Amino acid sequence: MLEKPSPVYIVGAGPGDPELLTVKAMRLLQEADVVVYDRLVSDSILDLVPPGATRIFAGKAARDHFMPQDEINELLVSLAKSGRSAVRLKGGDPFIFGRGSEEALYLSKHNIPFEIVPGITASAGCGAYAGIPLTHRGMATGVRFVTGHCRNGVHLDLNWKSLADPDTTLVIYMGLINVQKISSELIKAGLPADTPAGAIERGTTADQRTILTTLGELPACVEKAALKAPSLLIIGRVVDLANDLSWHIPALDCNVEALG
Ligand SMILES: C[S@@+](CC[C@H](N)C(=O)[O-])C[C@H]1O[C@@H](n2cnc3c(N)ncnc32)[C@H](O)[C@@H]1O
Repeated sequence: MLEKPSPVYIVGAGPGDPELLTVKAMRLLQEADVVVYDRLVSDSILDLVPPGATRIFAGKAARDHFMPQDEINELLVSLAKSGRSAVRLKGGDPFIFGRGSEEALYLSKHNIPFEIVPGITASAGCGAYAGIPLTHRGMATGVRFVTGHCRNGVHLDLNWKSLADPDTTLVIYMGLINVQKISSELIKAGLPADTPAGAIERGTTADQRTILTTLGELPACVEKAALKAPSLLIIGRVVDLANDLSWHIPALDCNVEALG
């Protein structure tokens, strides 16, 4: 056992496009002995890991095998104590719905040094690649990042009144499964049903699919287009700007009849 453990690097991989990695993330990946990665890390980013480095999959896919969080925490501690250079690679940014802070707290509690390397979070990446600025003068004075999914078995109970603000852009992570509830609760809380809304699947990748619609029609559009995870919901006036600013892959025709 070493006297001094090596640091664990908790690194954001961004939303998918490997060119969105930071220079620091790229350097750490190339120097890594071991990379512990999540399901959201794209194959093209994993291709950048040197062939000699060990890759350990720690992600989860619904109901498939996954490594419990306790085991991941323990693994990081033992890698640090073994003196190997360990990168904990996470989709997007580690501190935004990424549990990077839980892992860092565990390392801190066990006196393991660590660094956090921020990544481009899905909302910044998807917004940019779909042509949806998250704020825009005269349209949105702010933006809120919200989870659309609670821990297993916990009912999604958000403060809908405070979220139903036409001057703020709402970005909803993991919202696909509850899209019907999200749409109806926001409308019930006073956000007009014709508020522009969009959903972006696999944003920033070559497989990106975008739908542009309204809050009222969002659930039907998501269903007709059969969007799958990972997808991000964006609700607010700024979504309309995608009609002029989209540059990566054109949005699907989201006329509900057309999709049907
Ligand atoms: C557990 S959260 C992780 C978020 C991540 N830490 C980040 O900063 O982007 C997973 C959710 O992020 C969103 N997401 C991540 N990557 C995405 C992508 N490329 N396209 C669309 N949504 C994405 C989806 O809502 C997905 O369900």
